[in-house]
Amino acid sequence: MRVHVADHPLITHKLTVLRDVKTPSPVFRSLVEELMTLLAYEGTRGVRVEPVDIVTPVAPTTGVRIADPKPLIVPILRAGLGMLEGMVKLVPTAEVGFLGMARNEETLEPTTYAERLPDDLSDRQCFVLDPMLATGGSLTAAIQYLFDRGATDVTAICILAAPEGLAAVERALHGRDVTIVLGALDERLNELGYIVPGLGDAGDRLYGTV
Ligand code: PRP
Ligand code: URA
Repeated sequence: MRVHVADHPLITHKLTVLRDVKTPSPVFRSLVEELMTLLAYEGTRGVRVEPVDIVTPVAPTTGVRIADPKPLIVPILRAGLGMLEGMVKLVPTAEVGFLGMARNEETLEPTTYAERLPDDLSDRQCFVLDPMLATGGSLTAAIQYLFDRGATDVTAICILAAPEGLAAVERALHGRDVTIVLGALDERLNELGYIVPGLGDAGDRLYGTV
C-alpha cells in the first residue's frame, strides 16, 4: 500500500479554514470541493492513458487520452458526496458508483446501507472518496467491497486521517494494490473515535445533523 500526504501551502491554508469550528456549512462545502480538486491532481497521477493522434492548427502530433475502461469514482455516502464535484471537474469522463456506509457511533463498526456499482470491476481503476479516515473501518470495508467485485487497482482520497486508522487499513489490505492520498495526517483518535485535531463530524458539517 502506498500513502501520499499532500504537502502544499494552499491545501494547508484551506484545511485550516475547514477545521475551524466557526466555518459555516456553505463555506465548508465549497472548501471540501476545492480541496478535493487539489487532492485529485495528486490522486490521479497513476490514471491510465492511451496515445491519441490529433492535429493542432500547426501540425499533427500524438497526445494521450484517458484509457478505456474509464475510471470509476466511488464516493462513500454521506460525507464523500461532498467531494464528488471536485473530482468530476478534473475527470469528467469518469463513471460514478455509490456506496452508502455509516459507522455505529458506539461500536465504531461500519455498516453498508446502499450500493450502486457496476457488477464487474475487473480492470477498472477505482477512486474512493471519503473525507475522514478515523478507525479505518469504513475505508477498509469499502475497498474490500471493490476488490470482492473484481477491482485490482484502488486509490482512496481522504482529507484527514488518524495514524491509528491508517495503520489499521494497512494491516487489513497488506499486499493489495492500494494508494491512499491524504490532505493531512493528524495526531490521533480520541476515545470517541474522532480524529484529533480533525474537523468534527464531516457529514454533519456538510449537510447538518440527521
Ligand atoms: C464518517 C466518515 C467516514 C467514517 C470514518 O462517516 O465520512 O465514512 O465516518 O470513520 P471510520 O474510519 O472510523 O470508519 P459516518 O459513518 O459518520 O457517516 P456520514 O458520512 O453519513 O456522516
Ligand atoms: N467521522 C467524522 O466525520 N469525523 C471524525 O473525526 C471521525 C469520523
